[in-house]
Amino acid sequence: MLQIDQLTKTFGAKTAVKAATFTVEKPAMIGIIGRSGAGKSTLLRMLNCLTEVSAGTIMFDGVDVTALRGAAKRNWQSQCAMIFQQFNLVPRMDVVSNVLHGILNRRSTLATMFNLYPDEDIHKAIAILDRLGIAEHAPKRAEALSGGQQQRVAIARALMQDPKIILADEPIASLDPMNAQVVMQSLRQIHEEDGRMVIANLHTLDTARRYCDRVIGMRDGKIVFDGTPDQLTTGVARDIYGADETFSEAATSTEIETLNAEVVKLAEVAESV
Ligand SMILES: Nc1ncnc2c1ncn2[C@@H]1O[C@H](COP(=O)(O)OP(=O)(O)O)[C@@H](O)[C@H]1O
Ligand SMILES: [Mg+2]
Repeated sequence: MLQIDQLTKTFGAKTAVKAATFTVEKPAMIGIIGRSGAGKSTLLRMLNCLTEVSAGTIMFDGVDVTALRGAAKRNWQSQCAMIFQQFNLVPRMDVVSNVLHGILNRRSTLATMFNLYPDEDIHKAIAILDRLGIAEHAPKRAEALSGGQQQRVAIARALMQDPKIILADEPIASLDPMNAQVVMQSLRQIHEEDGRMVIANLHTLDTARRYCDRVIGMRDGKIVFDGTPDQLTTGVARDIYGADETFSEAATSTEIETLNAEVVKLAEVAESV
């Protein structure tokens, strides 16, 4: 399906992504991990054509997407919907209109200006919100929702495009542990039920392990690991994060585990009294 070959991006003297090469045979849920500055966002942005590549190719179903221009490029961009850490919703606009923005590029400017969406699109948006467990919030302003709910609106907006791939750049980095779990579970569900490919940049190891079938590790712009969560040993993790023997997975762990530990501690306390 997706073949990335020798993909490279330079910014002046800085090489952000160095000859990244990997193939995805069938829709998978892939986590990309690595330190801040490793090149994860640049890689995703190249996949979505938000950033021009300096060298290398991205083939999807036999088409070189780096060569696409105009309408063909926009079509590709709607095939691989992006989700961001900061949700990128229109805060003062209602939730359902935010979701309908997912098909903005298919609508005339005039129709969009007057919020004239066909009933069937509105029904589709509500159905997607319902699937994500947030239909009751449809008429509210996006800014009135919690972070986790807003990220689910962003996922709904992405689904409105009916994309083949969902690219998520640190989708849970701004969320509290419980919301982070709900959002990752939503992405996992979309992958499993719809057969969509999900590629998510994740800054923590445990999230990648828990939700992904495959993990790609980046260090200094290079792919230094590509395998299953089982193959991701502590030694490999050390190498990805460029750490020494003092490295502990806890250092890259999200608060989900911290929270679980707190719950266990509380349970222990409760038992002892
Ligand atoms: N637009 C840009 N201009 C210059 N340098 C950039 C730009 N975007 C990213 N970089 C650099 O490329 C490297 C990789 O960045 P990035 O892809 O954002 O890493 P990550 O997402 O893993 O934190 C970093 O050194 C960053 O400073
Ligand atoms: Mg990044």
